[in-house]
Amino acid sequence: MYDRWKKDQAYLDIVADLLASEQVQALKNYEHHHATTRLEHCLTVSYRSYRIAKALGWQAKAVARAGLLHDLFYHDWRVTKFEEGSHAYAHPYIAYQKALEITDLSDLEKDIIVKHMWLSTIAFPEYKESYLVSFVDKYSAVLEYFTGLKGRLKRKLKKVQTKRKFK
Ligand SMILES: [Fe+2]
Ligand SMILES: [Fe+2]
Repeated sequence: MYDRWKKDQAYLDIVADLLASEQVQALKNYEHHHATTRLEHCLTVSYRSYRIAKALGWQAKAVARAGLLHDLFYHDWRVTKFEEGSHAYAHPYIAYQKALEITDLSDLEKDIIVKHMWLSTIAFPEYKESYLVSFVDKYSAVLEYFTGLKGRLKRKLKKVQTKRKFK
């Protein structure tokens, strides 16, 4: 698990109230991209984006907070279907509505959350910070997916080897 954020007090101060909320903590009960929980994924996207934004002199605080809230939803997208459209279209708006229940959001933070599925959705982000979080989300999702795949393959291989041993 990516946990460099745990040692960064400046980052922790920015997201402390969100991280302490029941709504955000509940994300640890949901699997995301096979290898992580949804909370781990949101923290990873938030912290990676925050570090880049900070280095570039961009709006790092908004990036950290909106990054943490970008997947604030509690359904299994493989099971729950929406009339409004695909999961890619629906869940950023669900996350935005749920985020409003725990904090105020600036226009920038709203844009980061609502447009984070850009390229799967067609509405262009309005801020450079939104592009950043969107790209970090995709990058993290790919890494998480392949970490999960590697783990599953290793477990399968071990099973086959154990079976052979006892034949
Ligand atoms: Fe998402
Ligand atoms: Fe995500």
